[in-house]
Amino acid sequence: MLGGVKSCSSLGIGLAGFGTVGSGVWNVLERNGELITGRTGGGVRLHIAKILVRNTAKARATTGEVPAEMFTTDWRKLVEDPAVDIVVELIGGTTDAFEIVAAALRAKKPVVTGNKALLAERGIELFALSKENDTPIHFEAAVAGGIPIIRTVQDSFIGNRILSFSGIINGTSNYILGRMTDAGLTFEAALAEAQALGYAEADPALDVNGWDAAHKAILLATLAYGFPIDPAAIHVSGIEQVRPNDIHFATSLGYVVKLLAFIREHPNGEVELRVQPSFLAKSHILASVHGVFNAVAVHGDTAGESLFYGRGAGQDPTASSVVADLVEAARSLRQTNGHRGFLPYREKGRILPVAETSTAYYVRFDVTDRPGVIAEISGILAKHRIGISGTHSPVNPSNPDAEFVDMVFLLHTCPFGKLQEALAEIEALDCINSAPVVFRIESLG
Ligand code: HSE
Repeated sequence: MLGGVKSCSSLGIGLAGFGTVGSGVWNVLERNGELITGRTGGGVRLHIAKILVRNTAKARATTGEVPAEMFTTDWRKLVEDPAVDIVVELIGGTTDAFEIVAAALRAKKPVVTGNKALLAERGIELFALSKENDTPIHFEAAVAGGIPIIRTVQDSFIGNRILSFSGIINGTSNYILGRMTDAGLTFEAALAEAQALGYAEADPALDVNGWDAAHKAILLATLAYGFPIDPAAIHVSGIEQVRPNDIHFATSLGYVVKLLAFIREHPNGEVELRVQPSFLAKSHILASVHGVFNAVAVHGDTAGESLFYGRGAGQDPTASSVVADLVEAARSLRQTNGHRGFLPYREKGRILPVAETSTAYYVRFDVTDRPGVIAEISGILAKHRIGISGTHSPVNPSNPDAEFVDMVFLLHTCPFGKLQEALAEIEALDCINSAPVVFRIESLG
């Protein structure tokens, strides 16, 4: 007990999931529990009352200090336990996790979750339940690990119309792209490192196919723009298609390759939301976001531009956000301050079709190298009125007469739909051997 802190009754936590983040929450409460109680004027004393695991024997073997009777494999026992006042959902997925969160809200037990897939796909149902039961659901850990971006949008920027977000919000992809660039690692070796460091999702496909970042972007956009966003309506591509050659070209052209989430409200109210590997000028501030770090640039009409930077994944940073939410949940139990989710307040909203979004592009063609190839490709681009700002075709010094080469075109800004039409025609040329690979060149103002 800290000197001068009033004594208070303790609130019990039901922890669903005891993996990287769950055990991180345990550690933070062990380490900083007294500090939290002190900072809340003695109002919040948190203890873990029950832990949901898949396999009790395995959990006991790996966690010596947790009493065996604390573990259960039945989520109902966790939610219904009278010793559990707040439920923390960290199991991931959208099925059992949904049942746990819904049951907790119906039982009027505040929920803390880091599950962005769940909220992006089924959040509207859960926030309606939250409202119906006047019980909050907190999700700071769902976006950008330890960076307090959710609370920033919900609270600090509440008086702003949000003009745009641009960000690097998947630590695993950023780590992989960085290691491929700086250490020349293969994609597979870099992914294995990220997994060993606890950055990747249980299903790392979500990290590399762009959907982890997309789920987070949907959450940010929903909070900022107030209408439910159908994941099927947004354009997402991941880093699986990035090859060492792309990184090499980017570097030689003065760019870095980043998985970028971009959200912007257009003057007619349409919301542009996309996630894709992008070329960013080396001088851009987001180009300096390395390793597992994330950064979100928020442009509010009142606050102007702000940049939030920090660790976007990993045990302690994510646990930091979960514990902050636990304190918030505990406060709500003491003061009854109602729900805090996103509730639709706009009748209609529309995601801008990706075909109507415009940037400059880097396009890589796998071509059969023979006279006239550049002319054929350029002819089709010219017919579609797409300008070319440069072309490059590297010569492999060990095989200068190679028949198949990568040919790169840098294209002026045009709508993505127009580019797709031109590329469909180009792809049909005899000299093209596989589908062209397209990256955006972002200027980001
Ligand atoms: N797998 C996620 C990432 C963890 O790499 O960013 C945090 O959501």
